[in-house]
Parts: sequence; structure tokens; C-alpha cells
Amino acid sequence: MSQKKINVAIVGLGFGKEFIPIYQRHPNTTMYAICQRTRERLNEVGEQYGVAKRYTRFEELIQDPELDAVHINSPIHLHAPQSIAALKAGKHVASTVPAATTVEECREIVEAARAAGKNYMMMETAIYTREFLYIRELRDTGRLGRIQFLRGCHQQEMASWPGYWEGLPPMHYATHAVSPCLALVKGEAEYVSCFGSGRIAEKLAAKYGSPFAVESALFKVRGQPLAFEVTRSLFETARQYIESFDVYGDKAAFEWTQIEDQDPVVHVGEQPERVKVPDYAHLLPEPIQRFTTKGVYDAGHAHLSFIQGGGHGGSHPHLVHEFVSSIVEGRPSFPDVYQSLNWTCAGICAHESALRGGQIVALPVFR
Ligand SMILES: NC(=O)c1ccc[n+]([C@@H]2O[C@H](COP(=O)([O-])OP(=O)(O)OC[C@H]3O[C@@H](n4cnc5c(N)ncnc54)[C@H](O)[C@@H]3O)[C@@H](O)[C@H]2O)c1
Repeated sequence: MSQKKINVAIVGLGFGKEFIPIYQRHPNTTMYAICQRTRERLNEVGEQYGVAKRYTRFEELIQDPELDAVHINSPIHLHAPQSIAALKAGKHVASTVPAATTVEECREIVEAARAAGKNYMMMETAIYTREFLYIRELRDTGRLGRIQFLRGCHQQEMASWPGYWEGLPPMHYATHAVSPCLALVKGEAEYVSCFGSGRIAEKLAAKYGSPFAVESALFKVRGQPLAFEVTRSLFETARQYIESFDVYGDKAAFEWTQIEDQDPVVHVGEQPERVKVPDYAHLLPEPIQRFTTKGVYDAGHAHLSFIQGGGHGGSHPHLVHEFVSSIVEGRPSFPDVYQSLNWTCAGICAHESALRGGQIVALPVFR
């Protein structure tokens, strides 16, 4: 492993805090700075983790010449503007999901990354969970056979979450369901037809002009004889939290568990069997292996969206390792900037289709 060290800053210290101890222990990073608006909270987190460099203004942080990379975990509408500004300031960028909220922002991020020659990676937890890594292994060892269809689903009730979530179009936060489908086939979405179904309270619907309780979409994969389906709900639809991914091959299929804490099912031909999904900590440098099962969220957060499988399926250290390794090795990350923005844009275009009664909407090609 290279001895190179990069200086990383984390922006946004709610979910973002989860990543501090991982960067502190990764062999190729220095947990250089933290940034969030409120000084008091900033200092609290800084003291807790021993991070000395602290910024309340993002604009100042990205002018710091010692800084190599930012990991953005601010509220949704800031992801794109902050990513673009950081890329323009010559920093590598990791951004939590979704990467952006409009097609135009998606295009601007791709252009800024290209112009800067810096890495951009959307930190999509769903493609580094132990379930995804297990399915990837089924693919790579030929056990799935030829992939025939994929399905992602993400249902959550977000009534009491911070205000910017209220009334959010379900497909504007679709990456947890879209990304595993596309990541498994190393693909991008070409076009989409999406239907909106049901209605949410007028007060919620008015916020983003989005009336649907559920949005359900069919996507075509560009250049491959494949389609995949994605279903999302955010409000007023009863169900336990689920972030699931199913794949059907000609030899075997993987189906996510229906209820948390049950084991998923692998069907070999027509024979179903419940399987124990292993952990993939061995793929990581030793100092961060512990974080596939433990996170700072364990103590304070009980919501399934955070703790499901121990920190989003153990994905956090894998995400950090991929982002950091891609910079150190001078290669694109997985997902790279094109995949990241296609996977985000897929949801934005799906919502557009739903507003037009299911009409097919083609995604722009950013490459
Ligand atoms: N599985 C996942 O990938 C996953 C899970 C949870 C959250 N998230 C994403 O992480 C983001 C943050 O989630 P959260 O629950 O911590 O949200 P939050 O609203 O609780 O916290 C946002 C943080 O950003 C900071 N912030 C706000 N404006 C800022 C600015 N201008 N400059 C710097 N910092 C600023 C706030 O002070 C706060 O620390 C969300 O956009 C969400 O999409 C992703």
C-alpha cells in the first residue's frame, strides 16, 4: 500500500460525523478539518474526535491550500453547489446522496470535475453493503449466470425529519434503489417511464409540487438488453423501513428479506434457500475493518435507516477506502463522476416522467 497521505475535510456533522473515525484510521488519510455552520456544535464534535482545524464557512474551508479532498454531508440542496465550488477550488469531492436535485446541476458537476481533473464520487451506501458485496461475488463467480432483471425498492416514512425532507418527490432520493441495479451491471440508465401513485397531504405536496405517495419506475439500461424497476415512497405509505435490491439471473436469483432481521433468499433455479450474508471487512485495510460492524451512530440513533446491518450494511469504511484509494492510485472511483450523476439523474428524470403521466423521459448523456 502507498505511503501517500491526503488531507480530508468533512462538511456537515450529522451523518457526516460517522466518517470521522474512519478517516482518522485509514492509512492514506489525515482527518484534517471539519466544517459546519454552528460554532458550538462544531467545537463539540472537534473536541470529541480531536480534530483541531475547524471551519464554520464552507467557502473558507475550500480555499485552504493544505486541503486535498472534501466529503460533503450537508442537507440535500447544498450537495451540488458545494461540490461544484470545491471542484473549482481544485479539491477532490466525495458527496453523500443524492448528488444533485436538477439535471442542470448534474451536468455542471460533471463539467467541473472534468475541468479540474479531480475525482468526484457519490458516496452511495447501497453499493457497498455486505448484501451488495455478496451479490457481486455471486455475479463474479458465475453463480447468478446471465443477469435478466433487477429491482430496487426504498420505502421510508419521513414525516418527522428535518424540514427540507417534507414533501420531497420520492424519486429525488432514489439513488439507494437505482444505484445497486446499475452498479451490478456496471451500467447507466438510458430512459425511464415512471408513474406516480396515491396522494399525500396538500400541505406536504405543496412544498415541492409533488403530490404522489409512491413513485414506481421502469428504466432501460443503456447498451444492454436489460431493464430494472424502482419503487420509492417517503410519506403516508405504511411499511417498515426497507432499502432492498433483488436480482434475477438465469441460474440463480437473490431476493432481499421482507422484514428486517430475517435472512435473504437465494433461489437456485426454482429451489429457494435462506442465506447468511458474510461480512467483507477482509477487503479493507486492517485499521478500518472494525467499522463494518460498528459506527458512531450505534449509541444515539435507533432508526433502521441508520443502523440497518450495522451502519448501512457495513458500507461506510468501504466507501471511504474506495474514495481514498482512487485518489492515491490516480484512477476513477467507483462510481466515477459519470456513473454518479447518471444514477442521480435517473431519479430526477423519473419524477419528471411521473409528472407527465408516465411519458418516457430520456436521460442526458454526460460522457
Ligand atoms: N445512507 C446514506 O447515504 C445517508 C444516510 C443519512 C444521511 N444521508 C445524507 O446526508 C445528508 C445529511 O444528513 P443528516 O441527517 O446529517 O442531515 P442534517 O440536516 O441533520 O445535518 C446536516 C449537517 O450539515 C450542516 N450544514 C448545513 N448547512 C451547511 C453549510 N452551508 N455549510 C456547512 N455545513 C452545513 C449542518 O450544520 C449539519 O451538521 C443528507 O443530505 C442525506 O441525504 C445519506
